Amino acid sequence: MINMVNQPLLINGIEIDNRVVFQPMEGCDGNSDGSIGELTHRRYMRFAESGAGIIWFEAVAVTPEGRANPRQLYISDVTKESFSNLISEMKARAIELYGKAPIIIAQLTHSGRYARPIDVPAPIVAYRNSIWEAGREGQNYTIATDEYLDTISSKYAVASTLACEVGFDGVDVKCCHGYLFNEFLSAYNREGNYGGSFENRTRLYFDAVSAVKANMPEGKILTTRLNISDCFPYGYGWGVNKDGSVNLDETKLIMDKLADQGVEMINFSIGNPYVIPHINRPHNGITPESPATALNRIYNATAELQAYRPSMKIVSSALTYLGEKCMEYAGEMLDKRVCQLVGFGRMTFAYPSFYQDFKNNGFLDKKKCCICCSKCTELMRAGSVSGCPIRDKDTYLPLYMSKVMKK
Ligand SMILES: Cc1cc2nc3c(=O)[nH]c(=O)nc-3n(C[C@H](O)[C@H](O)[C@H](O)COP(=O)(O)O)c2cc1C
Ligand code: SF4
Repeated sequence: MINMVNQPLLINGIEIDNRVVFQPMEGCDGNSDGSIGELTHRRYMRFAESGAGIIWFEAVAVTPEGRANPRQLYISDVTKESFSNLISEMKARAIELYGKAPIIIAQLTHSGRYARPIDVPAPIVAYRNSIWEAGREGQNYTIATDEYLDTISSKYAVASTLACEVGFDGVDVKCCHGYLFNEFLSAYNREGNYGGSFENRTRLYFDAVSAVKANMPEGKILTTRLNISDCFPYGYGWGVNKDGSVNLDETKLIMDKLADQGVEMINFSIGNPYVIPHINRPHNGITPESPATALNRIYNATAELQAYRPSMKIVSSALTYLGEKCMEYAGEMLDKRVCQLVGFGRMTFAYPSFYQDFKNNGFLDKKKCCICCSKCTELMRAGSVSGCPIRDKDTYLPLYMSKVMKK
């Protein structure tokens, strides 16, 4: 039987060799001006050697106040050369190894309430949300004004133009995980142009999508990473029923509007990793539900959305929990048309050569797989650079010992 994982696919007319997507994974290892750092370079060169069809570059800020941390990448006139150098090196290396470069997508972001550039006394939010803010009671917030929001789409247009200029093959207007655009989807009670109706709650996002599209050169891909649902009780998140279960009605409306804008590929994710990480990235810690429940939720919702628009190239998320069985599971998802592309996050940190091993040997090496221990997230939350202290010990274990264990 043909293994669907190894099958080529056309995305906006560009062919990729296989269905493997390296999901965006922030390393928090850029330089203070937002340019590519030493560890950023190391990670992406390892990714370039993976043979994956798509490398979905991590969150890159479009504006300094939207940076998630002082080391988050930020694309600007000052930093563009470092991006350009990295992308050309990545493509050259992939061509040397496989005769073909992967598609590389830039994920553009404003981190909103989770933005922590150097010193931010009051992060920018859409509205106050007691569930998202639980445990952060001492924090002050600034509710974004409509005037400020009116300026955001032009920042996306500038960043997107730069991203295309430096060699990215496409641009993702990020709308997931509780960051600014995603938060606005649930601004049901906000007054003004950006809250209340579906049209208003999606205005910020679609203004950016349109601005990016209007400035995008021929041959580049417009795409998005979108939350299927936020999975909070109704009123505290988007895409839910009154009982908190997933409701895909508005997700489908967004898909329709994206299709009208020529978007062919959508990368679906779910939840908010700051509040309910077990839903977003099933892991082995103590959690309020089993990882199987989380996996089934995202599987079923992805299947329904792929069936809703069969021609769209849907990327699945959260496959790493399956460990050495993740490629078999991915193959089944593709066979059953649950999605058309299979996305891997933590596995890329732990075992960047997993796809080559699968292709060459037919199986993954259990000793190299991610064990879903969340140490990479702990590093990130401790304000450190992030990577895998388990499988990439020499580089990240000393950091874990000093930044996390000593706290
Ligand atoms: C350390 C870390 C950094 C991440 N950075 C990003 C990011 O920059 N953008 C994004 O959309 N998702 C990010 N994610 C989420 C992953 O892309 C992915 O959705 C998640 O890990 C679940 O997939 P997995 O089970 O394959 O790991 C990050 C996750 C982790 C653990
Ligand atoms: S630190 Fe743990 S969860 Fe993160 S990539 Fe490594 S093994 Fe996986």
